[in-house]
Formats: sequence, structure tokens, C-alpha cells
Amino acid sequence: MAHTKLWVLLVLYVGALQYLPARTEEAKPEGEEECRLLGKFDLRGYVEAEHTDHVIGGMFPMHFRTILEEDPTSTPPMSPQCEGFNFRGYRWVKAMILAIRHINKDPDILPNITLGYQIYDTCYTMSKTVENSLAFLTGQNETTPVFRCSSGAPLAAVVGAGGSTLSIASSRILGLYYFPQVGYASSSLLLSDKYQFPTYLRTIPSDNVQSQGMAILVKHFGWKWVGTIAADDDYGKYGVKAFKEKIEKITRSGEICIAFSETIPKIYSRTKIQKVVETVKDTNATVIVVYSSDIDFHPLVEEFMISNISSKTWIASEAWVTSALIARPEYFPLLGGAIGFGVRRGHIPGLKEFLLDIHPGRDPNDDLAIEFWQSAFNCTWPNASIPYNTDNRKNVTGHENRVNFTSDHFCTGEENLEELNNTYLDVSELRITYNVYKAVYAVAHGLHQLDLCTEDGGPFTGTSSRCASIDEFEPWQLMYYMKNKMEFTVLNETVHIDEKGDVYTPYDILNWQMNGTNDIAFVNVGKFNSSGAEDYEFMVYNDSIFWNNPAAANPRSTCNDNCQPGFRKGIQQGKPSCCYDCIKCAEGQFSNVTDARECNPCPEDYWSNADRSGCLHKEVEFLAYEEALGTTLIVLAVFGACVVLSVTGVYIKHRNTALVKANDRELSFLIQFSLVITLMTSILFIGKPVDWSCQSRQVSLALGFSLCLSCVLGKTVMLLLTHLAKNSKVAEKARMVFLPIFQKIIVLLSVLTEVGICTAYLILRPPRMNKNTQFLNVKIIFECDEGSIIFLCVMFGFDVFLAIQCFLTAFIARKLPNNFNEAKFVTFGMLVFFIVWISFVPAYLSTRGKFKVAVEIFAILASSFGLLGCIFVPKCYIILLKPLRNTEEIVHGKAATNDKSAPPTSASCTSEVNNTTVSTVLED
Ligand code: TRP
Repeated sequence: MAHTKLWVLLVLYVGALQYLPARTEEAKPEGEEECRLLGKFDLRGYVEAEHTDHVIGGMFPMHFRTILEEDPTSTPPMSPQCEGFNFRGYRWVKAMILAIRHINKDPDILPNITLGYQIYDTCYTMSKTVENSLAFLTGQNETTPVFRCSSGAPLAAVVGAGGSTLSIASSRILGLYYFPQVGYASSSLLLSDKYQFPTYLRTIPSDNVQSQGMAILVKHFGWKWVGTIAADDDYGKYGVKAFKEKIEKITRSGEICIAFSETIPKIYSRTKIQKVVETVKDTNATVIVVYSSDIDFHPLVEEFMISNISSKTWIASEAWVTSALIARPEYFPLLGGAIGFGVRRGHIPGLKEFLLDIHPGRDPNDDLAIEFWQSAFNCTWPNASIPYNTDNRKNVTGHENRVNFTSDHFCTGEENLEELNNTYLDVSELRITYNVYKAVYAVAHGLHQLDLCTEDGGPFTGTSSRCASIDEFEPWQLMYYMKNKMEFTVLNETVHIDEKGDVYTPYDILNWQMNGTNDIAFVNVGKFNSSGAEDYEFMVYNDSIFWNNPAAANPRSTCNDNCQPGFRKGIQQGKPSCCYDCIKCAEGQFSNVTDARECNPCPEDYWSNADRSGCLHKEVEFLAYEEALGTTLIVLAVFGACVVLSVTGVYIKHRNTALVKANDRELSFLIQFSLVITLMTSILFIGKPVDWSCQSRQVSLALGFSLCLSCVLGKTVMLLLTHLAKNSKVAEKARMVFLPIFQKIIVLLSVLTEVGICTAYLILRPPRMNKNTQFLNVKIIFECDEGSIIFLCVMFGFDVFLAIQCFLTAFIARKLPNNFNEAKFVTFGMLVFFIVWISFVPAYLSTRGKFKVAVEIFAILASSFGLLGCIFVPKCYIILLKPLRNTEEIVHGKAATNDKSAPPTSASCTSEVNNTTVSTVLED
């Protein structure tokens, strides 16, 4: 681009020079100005302008490059020489000449008008192209720009130039004069900008379409990690830019990333090329997009061959996909399987014959034909001034390394062109050639339209005539016809050029395969058609594609391996989004797809499995009836209840004995009843809790205990009072009357109080079943939420209060030799009760889940058994085994007992019992 501007400046500068008085030795008469030739262009090509009505200009890369001069300022400026004969470009030239011949012969288009041509070699360089453009404007080769001094046929329009950068450079100059230009190969998006290039039209679709196709192709094959290589020109750089933009547009952001972006230097530099090679070697991207002309890409391919790179899939742009320079069998290990976009192909009748119709002997001035012959047959034409130079490849380094080969044998002129296996004669893939043909027709069609103008329908105003004359028109007048909806038919194809100068022809998707004769075949594996907008037509036959990798399958191209289910992508700082770490999902989360962006939380009651690829129903935990612990506890409770019931049985059977009577039968039965309740309550703790079991378990336990303890309290209070009343007869009487009532009142009050508390608890903040999922993630613990802890404490606090009272009264009364030493056993019973419940607290607080419940049941069972053991077992012992002692006297302590063999009542009770007063009480 910068070069282009430079050249424009140069043109203007050269133009301005014309108006300066020339500094010559001789004095010129005043007012007379002199035109002076500043430099001579050395342009080569084909010109046929005589005896023609109009001339069409043409610019073609007949050579690959110019020879770089070492220090151009030390010598007069010389137009550079070109080197590296380009057979393909030469074929394009021939196609243009043929097209003009066809038009001249065609009675339907421009009858009576003969077209000529003025075709120059651009040598695929900017400087030559600018020279060409200036020459077109001035009409001939060796005069000054700006003025057209030529008297020959006027130049109507220009066809060319090949590469986009060249078209841009020339179009900037030609555009100044509103000179129509039709490109056949320049596809850069920039050229669609009519503000910058108002007179540029083309017969090749813009790279906007091609880039879209490449992006869709990459997406289609699921490639995520793609490298790009661009020629360092407007074609490569803008092509890759458009490709990246399309990738972003058609994929969710970050789905496809660019692994690297390299450029091929325009001027050969081995170090720069090697850098590109290193990048390709080091990358793990297997897919590489190359936006470059074959001429620029070629040295890089050579370097790739040296470093033995293989197993890459190349995405070829239209400029090299069918190029014979690149598509050589020796490059197949590297480039085989390449997939590329080829512009529409066509067949030009008579081209083959026309191409064959060339001989250097025919015209000694036809340098190009001579050079063609020399290059094609590897010989030297006698007396030729053109140095023979076949090896186009080695000669790319410019001046220092330039070698002009001279073949040791002369051409005979008898060489057989038909046997020549050369891209020049290959008319099987006429793509750009066909575009050249169409471009010439476009110009002819414009001229034809101009010629058809009728005076009243003419578009021009402000001129003497509404029509432009075909014999004498201005370039802008022709431009008018070429800009307005160009639509014409060439070789049965309708060409439509829109107001931006663009065409939308479908692309063939080509795949490089090896055919039977060890040649590269461009197999058509699909089609892409788009008008650049969202809607497009894309089709590939996956099965017919040859993949150049050991697996012979669509290669994977990703920055790293996919994340398996159970993992999610994790960003790597400073790396593209396609490169990521795989992070295992957290507990309770899962991902069931590959490359998940996020892990999803498992639904309620579910928990992730070990590899986090799914969710499992959470394990449910509660103390079940079926499990050993549950069954054991039930058995113990039932056993306890049976023992209590058998005690009741014993009591009923011996209800009239002194011991039973003395111990207040009703209270004893109530205690037994309450013990059955507490023991059976423990069963409510087992099994899956539900609301009612949660509510009933604590309440019935509290009530059971309050009944039990209040009865015990009644007993101990009575013992105490009995003793106090012993000394007076009146008191004795009162005792007999009031105490039983007093006892019942104590019991009733206590139970009623507890019932009150329980009712309030159940009404205000009742316990509920709770699914605890917080404590253990993998389990749902079914437990009871106690509702109000305060109520619970008050409820059991009341029991504790009763128990303390029992203990205190029993403790005071323990030494009174009365009533079968009841108080002492109650004291023990209460001690057992306290010990059990005090140790219960820490055990309860430190366990969770079903064991918490088990601890509570243990405490209930232990305390119940404690009370049972301490209160009833000694008595049953006497009732059943020592009936002799079951008399009024002994029971009421009126007779002394003397039985040393009194057995221990229970383990916990006896140890102390034996050392203290029990022995005396129990003695006969
Ligand atoms: N499209 C290329 C550009 O815009 C030019 C191009 C197409 C080309 N095919 C080619 C150049 C073949 C050289 C050889 O620059």
C-alpha cells in the first residue's frame, strides 16, 4: 500500500515536471516549453494496435520477478529486467489474445469494430505494473506520462493485473483518469472499495467469499486449532484477516482459534522463511490455511521439503490450489490431501490449438516466444538475446545469487510442443485463464453497449451529444456502461458484475490426490456458493477426500486433548481460549459431555458419582429396623418391657403381701407402666422418621419419665414423711389419711405440668422430620428436627427437676430403716439415671446420623433398666425367693432380719449396698 502511494506521488511528480522550464544549455524562445524524457521503460509484451479501432490493455505476470539491482542510484535509472519464465502467465496472455480474436470474429459483439491489444509483462512486481499503467495512459512505451501523445488507436480499457497488490497499484493510477480496468485474478477485498478503486471490476469473486468458505470448511470438519500463512501482500494479509473475521462470525466465540499467523516475505529471505518453517514444525495444529500466490508460496514449500514436514492438512487459496508450480508429485508427501478453493472452471474452445500455434522461428522479434521455447525445451535459441534460464526456483534470492544458466545445447526448432508436459499446454483446469477470457469479453461488452447508444436514450448530459461515439469516447464514458449492471453471456455462462465490480461465481472445493500416473489430480469434492452474505450453499463429499495422514482420516486439530465427561474447561492465562486445562468437577457437580464449559450441579437428592460424569441418588441414612443395631435395640426394649410386665405380674399375684402393699401398689403399677412406656418409646426412635414419630418420640419419652419420676418422688416423699410422723399418733393418723392423696397429687401435678409443656411444645414449635443434606453431601440423613430446643430443654428439664428431687428425698431418707430400705435403692436408681444421662450428653453431641439416635436409645434403655433394676428387682427377689421375709413386721422394719445370705440385687446396687445399711435392713 505504501508503495502504491509512492508510485502515485511519482506519477504526479513526473507530471508536474512537464510544466517546469527545462534546464537546457540552449536558451529557448519565451513561452516555448520542452518535453523531456525522464526515463525509459523497458516493457515487454505483445502489442497489436495497428489497423484496429480500439485497443485493450493487458497486464500479465509472464515472469516471476525482476532482477534486483544493487545500487540503482549510481547508474541512470533503468527499467529492471525480469527473470523466471511463467508458463501459466504466458497461457493467460494467449487466452487474452484468443478472446480478442474471438470477439473480432463474432458478428454479435462489436460488429465492424476490430479490437487490438497492448499486453505487458508485470513480472509479478509492483514497479513493472506501475510502468505498465503509465504506458497505457501515455499510449506508448517511451514518452512521458500524463499526456497521451500516441496517434494510434485509443486504449479502451485494461485487463489485469494478476496479483491484488499489482491491481491496487495500477488501479490507483488508472483510477485517476477514470480508466476502466477489469481484473481476472485479483481477489483482495480491498478492491471492492469503490471509493478507492472507482473503476475496478473483476471476474474473480472477492476473497470475502473465499474466506467465508474456508471458515465454513474448518467448522465443517471440526478443526479447532488452525494456523495461517499469508503472503506479505494485499491478497494474503487481507485474505487471512477476512478468514479470521469469518471464523469469529460463524462460530461461537472462542470455539476455533488461530494457532499461529505467519507471513511469507515478498523478497526472498531464507532466515525469514526458516522462521515460518520452525513455527509449522513446532505447532500442534494440523490444519494450516495458506493465502498466497503460488509464486510467493513456492520458496516456502521448498524449505518445508528440506525439513520433512508431513501429516499436515493444507487449506489452499485459489491462487495456488491448481498451480503446476506447487502441485508437483515430489511435493505430494508434504501437500497431498490439501483442500482448496478453485474458482469456476470453464472450457475455451480452440485454446489448445491456439496455444500450440507458437514457434520462435516465426517472428525473430518475439522475445517471449523465444524465451518460452528456451525454457520449455531447456535449450538455447541461436542468436537469442534472452539468457536461457530454466530454474525458476533457485534464482529467487535476487542479485547476489543470480545465476543465468546457458544451456549447452541449441534449440533446433524441431522440438515437439505436443509432447511437452507443461502447464502452458494444460487446458484441463482453466480457471484464471477462463477469467481472463471473461474479462476481455466484459470490456468488449461495455464497448458494445456504448456503441448501441441511441441519441434519445443516451445517458450523458452536459456534453454535445447524449451518446458517446465509439470512435471517440472518454474513458469515463465507457466506465458508465461497464458500471451499470454488467450482464453478458460468454461461452454459455451468464456473467453478472455488480455495481461494486464484483462477481459471485461458485467455488469448487478441490482435494489433492495422486492419480494412477503418479500425477496430482485436483479432485472436485464439493462446492461453495455464496453471495458474501449469511446465506450460502456448502457441500462436501467427505468420503471422496484423501487425507494425508497415517490414519487417512479427518485429522484432529485441537490445541489440547478434549476434556472428558466429568471435567470442565479451565482457562489458561494468556493462551487462546481453545487451549485449556481440564478441571475435574467438584463434588456434587457433574458434566456429561466432552469439553464442557461448566459443571452442572446435581439435582436435589442426587450426588455426583466418582468420576463426576453423572449423578447418583444419594444414600439415605436412618436407623432401620432391619439392620443389626436397630434389631438389637428393639430386642432389648421388648425384653425390658417383658421384664417390667413380668414384674407387674409378680406384683399382681402377690398384691396382698406386705411388701407389695407397703410399697403403695398404685404407684408401683404406675412406675411399671411408665417404664413400659419409656422402653417402648425407644422403638419410635427406630425406622425412617416421619413427622408423627418425631413428635411422639420425645413427648412420650418425657411423659414416661415424668410419670415414672413423679411416682418415685411420691414414694420417697412418703418415706420421709412416714418417718417424720412416726413419733406422734396424730401425725400417724394424718399420714394414713393424707399421704396417699398427697402422693397422687404430686404425681398428678407433675404429669399435668409435663403434659402442659408437651402440649405447648407440640402446638408452638413441634419437631418435624428433616432431610439433612448439609451434614454429609453423599447422604441424605433422615432425622428429626427438634423444633424448639428451648421447649425440649424445658420438657426434659422438668424431668431432671423431678429426678433431682427424687434423688434428694431418697438420699435424705436412705438411712431410715423403713419400708424395705426403699430409699436406698431409689438413691441408687437415681444415681444410675444421672450417670446415664450425663454421659449421654457428650455422646449425643459428638455423633451424627443414625448413631445419634442409637445413643439416645441406649440412654433410654439404660436408664429404664437402671430404674427397673434398682426399684423392682430387690423386691421381686424377696417376693419370689424369700417369701418368709415378706411379712408386715419385717417390711415395716419392726422385726430385725438376720439373713447374711441376702443376695445382691443388682450389680450396680449391691457393691454399695453390702457395705452400708442395706444388710441390716434385709436381715431377718
Ligand atoms: N488472487 C490472487 C491475488 O489477489 C492472484 C492470483 C490468483 C494469482 N491466481 C493466481 C497469482 C495464480 C498468481 C498465480 O493476489
